[in-house]
Formats: sequence, structure tokens, C-alpha cells
Amino acid sequence: MSFDRSIKIAPSILAADFAAFGSECEAVEAQGADWIHVDVMDGHFVPNITFGPATCAAIRPHIKGVMDVHLMIAPADPYLAEFAKAGADVITVHAEAGPHIHRSLQAVRGLGCKAGIALNPATPANAVEYVLDQIDLICVMTVNPGFGGQSFIHSQIEKVRQLRAMIGDRPIHIEIDGGITPETAPLMAEAGADVLVAGSAVFKGGSVAEPAPYGQNIRAIRAAAEAARGTMV
Ligand code: DX5
Ligand code: ZN
Repeated sequence: MSFDRSIKIAPSILAADFAAFGSECEAVEAQGADWIHVDVMDGHFVPNITFGPATCAAIRPHIKGVMDVHLMIAPADPYLAEFAKAGADVITVHAEAGPHIHRSLQAVRGLGCKAGIALNPATPANAVEYVLDQIDLICVMTVNPGFGGQSFIHSQIEKVRQLRAMIGDRPIHIEIDGGITPETAPLMAEAGADVLVAGSAVFKGGSVAEPAPYGQNIRAIRAAAEAARGTMV
């Protein structure tokens, strides 16, 4: 996985057809997705349950690019090796998921994956200050994690701005997750985000049988974000 700050669109399969994950991943990649975002929920850290490492392993062969696994589970540490074995390229653990996030991040890198830290909307930017050398990605939650289709929380724009200044030249992605549309994506691209997760806004109107809307939706988000970037990266 190489590093750059170009805009990357990461469809969340939370909004895909759960009975057809493999075909859905192939369809959104064919329509221009850069990464595939995989939301793992445990019904404990967040009030919803999705799926675990077995599902990740099953969809891995259907993903050509980056498999970006967002763990909304607590504890996370006992399961990290299973998600690495399932083929995750990026494993993101929530800062709020336990008392030892530094250890979790070290463990993720030790398993050969890129390490991400996710911040809930109420968690300040400075939660990452002392793990900057342990991370490859910061996921700024722009909704409360647990469900797709929620409204973007505007206070997170300032958090992304602070994080972008804090990371300086370090090769750390800033990912935003929740309520991303062609209207909200530019606000975050301008503030410094480069990985844009979108579930509802990518999958709406399309299907495996009729995937063209996926491509239109991805292009609309990307164009809006790139236009807002200007010369700022
Ligand atoms: C929320 C998940 C998101 C979610 C985004 O807990 O982490 O990835 O699927 O969905 P939309 O884009 O519909 O807000
Ligand atoms: Zn997510």
C-alpha cells in the first residue's frame, strides 16, 4: 500500500446488499471505488451488530484494492490477529474501545497491517498526539458510530483541520466516516481529509445488476471534494 494524499473514495459495505457482498465489492470497484470500507460492529461498543473476521475473509478475494476494516468492537485486541489473517490492509481501532490504544496500534502493525485510530465525535483531536508515530490513519467519525444513513456532524470539520496541522509531513491518512455526500465531502477535503468513506451516498439508486449509479455517485463525491481542495493538500 503506497501513501499519497489524493482523494480516495471508500464505499462502506454497510450500505450494500448483505447477501451479495462479494459481487457488491466487485461492482463498486469497477465503478471507481479506491478502497472498500468494512464496518465491524459488536452490539456492545456500538448498538448494532454486523459481521466478523469470517465475512472479511470471504469477501477478501473479491477486493482488488485496499480492504479497510473499521472495528467498532470492544475489546479489540483479542480479535486483531483474526482480522489480519482475513486479509485486512488497514485495521482501525477506536480510541474509546479500551484503555490501551497504544498497545492495540502496535499489535496491528506487528501483524503487518496499517494501523488506524478512530475518534468518536466527542473525542478531541489531541487524543492522537502521543500515538502519531504508531499510526497510518486517523478516522474521524462524522456521525456516532453504529448505523449508516445518519446526518453529518459539522463540528468535526474543525477537528480535521486540527489533525491535519498536527500530522504535518507524517504519512498519515485522514479518513472521514459518516454522512458523507457531495455536499459534505468538500468541507472535509478542504479541511485536510483524503479518505472519504461513504455508504448511503454511494450505494443509493444502484445494485449489482444496475451498477452505473454507483459510478455516478462516486464521481459526484470525488469531483466535489477535488474541487474544494484547490491547491491545498
Ligand atoms: C457508521 C459506519 C460508517 C457508515 C457510513 O458507524 O462506520 O462507515 O457505514 O454510512 P453513511 O455514509 O451512510 O453515513
Ligand atoms: Zn466505518
